[in-house]
Amino acid sequence: MDFHDYINKVRERFQRSDFAPLAYVHSYGCQQNVSDGEKILGMLADMGCGITDDRSSADIIILNTCAVRENAEEKVFGNIGELKRLKEQNPDLIIGVCGCMPQQKHIVERIRRSYKYVDIVFGTFAIADFPKLLSEHLESRKFTEDTEERNSVPTEGMRVIRSCFYKASVPIMYGCNNFCTYCIVPYVRGREHSRLPEDILNEINGLVSDGCKEIMLLGQNVNSYGKNLDEPVSFSELLRRINALDGDFRIRFMTSHPKDVTFELIDTIAQCDKICKHLHLPLQSGSDRILTAMNRHYDLQKYMDTVNYAREKMPQFSLSTDIIVGFPNETYDDFLMTLDTVKKVGYDNIFSFIYSKRKGTKAAEMEDNTSDEDKSKWFRELLEVQRNVAEENYKRFEGRVMTVLFDGESRRSGYISGKSDEFIIVEAKGSTELIGQMKKVKITSTRYWAVEGEIID
Ligand code: SAH
Ligand code: SF4
Ligand code: F3S
Repeated sequence: MDFHDYINKVRERFQRSDFAPLAYVHSYGCQQNVSDGEKILGMLADMGCGITDDRSSADIIILNTCAVRENAEEKVFGNIGELKRLKEQNPDLIIGVCGCMPQQKHIVERIRRSYKYVDIVFGTFAIADFPKLLSEHLESRKFTEDTEERNSVPTEGMRVIRSCFYKASVPIMYGCNNFCTYCIVPYVRGREHSRLPEDILNEINGLVSDGCKEIMLLGQNVNSYGKNLDEPVSFSELLRRINALDGDFRIRFMTSHPKDVTFELIDTIAQCDKICKHLHLPLQSGSDRILTAMNRHYDLQKYMDTVNYAREKMPQFSLSTDIIVGFPNETYDDFLMTLDTVKKVGYDNIFSFIYSKRKGTKAAEMEDNTSDEDKSKWFRELLEVQRNVAEENYKRFEGRVMTVLFDGESRRSGYISGKSDEFIIVEAKGSTELIGQMKKVKITSTRYWAVEGEIID
């Protein structure tokens, strides 16, 4: 039996008892996880469930978890703890915990020990087995678990329920082979596995004909897309094929690993009119010593060569990055090299994190004599520097016209906000009817976290 058969089985069971349960799914973490959550919602809807945003009225609650940092995990445990009260009020409530956290043994043990009211636990590899697990649980009413590792994750043909009609994430590959020494992702997501280009193109075609305006291609390292296919296709080639599809939409992608960004990729971005002129290029550290200890496989020179080439080809090119502060035994001198790189590159946005020790990774075994106080101090210093860098950078947009996809109301009444091709937050006076539309905006003023302008077209 495949997942369609189990979906039918559960649906018939609900129909027989004349019960249409309400399901609530919450995804933590990265866009890959959000995308998995959309598939879980799709399966629940196919099983005949209604979908709710209010967990207190739900009959099935699924928490789709993230393991990337300790505070992410603790937040999830806090949220699982809060569900105890709901289970006491409604003993028939079904609680599921899935995603990256249960792909670690010690987490499943903690759930079984301290959160006995959790009914179903499954990892990232078992997403297609969720209907089977639910079916088994409905029959036995016993704790049901599948956290086994597998070689691939079958997801083709799954229905997806998206919360947004004008923006969509499309996974192009799953897993990661890089084993950066601090990172848990390769352990909880397994090895790299690319989707077939025709499946990706078909999905995007469908989305665009449904009116989707922004396609975000997802992978932990999109630059290694296609290497394990029977007929290898490079990421640049995939981008060119997507760019050639008909329709009025723009293309983004995440994440690019600096070790694999080629000049060919930069040329492709420059040549393809639908690709946003922005790259999220995680630096992690500006110190070669730390980059080696992180197993990142590039040095600062290689990183800067990419940045300089991109800026040469596209002078207005926009860059954002991820930075880890306080890797084991990082010194202030190492950190100063990161600060210096942040100033030199001139990022429009950085996502910075204090290093978090992840059980089972290589870095967790490393000696670490850097104090938590120093790490926090440096972290604040980085935020301060980036604030000034962004404030200065954003001035270059004044007087320019940006293409903005509006996605929500701004805090100021009468204003709406959205993201430009460069991944900058743009605010403008306008009606909420424009949400979901792409507009040209002439920038009139800038701040350090957003720019403001007038809609001209
Ligand atoms: N595959 C992507 C990133 C995935 S995780 C890449 O290689 O860029 C997103 C970000 O979380 C990473 O870029 C890193 O900056 C941060 N991160 C990952 N593990 C971390 C850890 N143990 N402590 C702190 N930050 C971490
Ligand atoms: Fe983690 Fe490195 Fe893989 Fe990114 S490339 S997911 S940081 S191991
Ligand atoms: Fe978190 Fe898993 Fe994504 S650990 S960052 S949800 S791949």
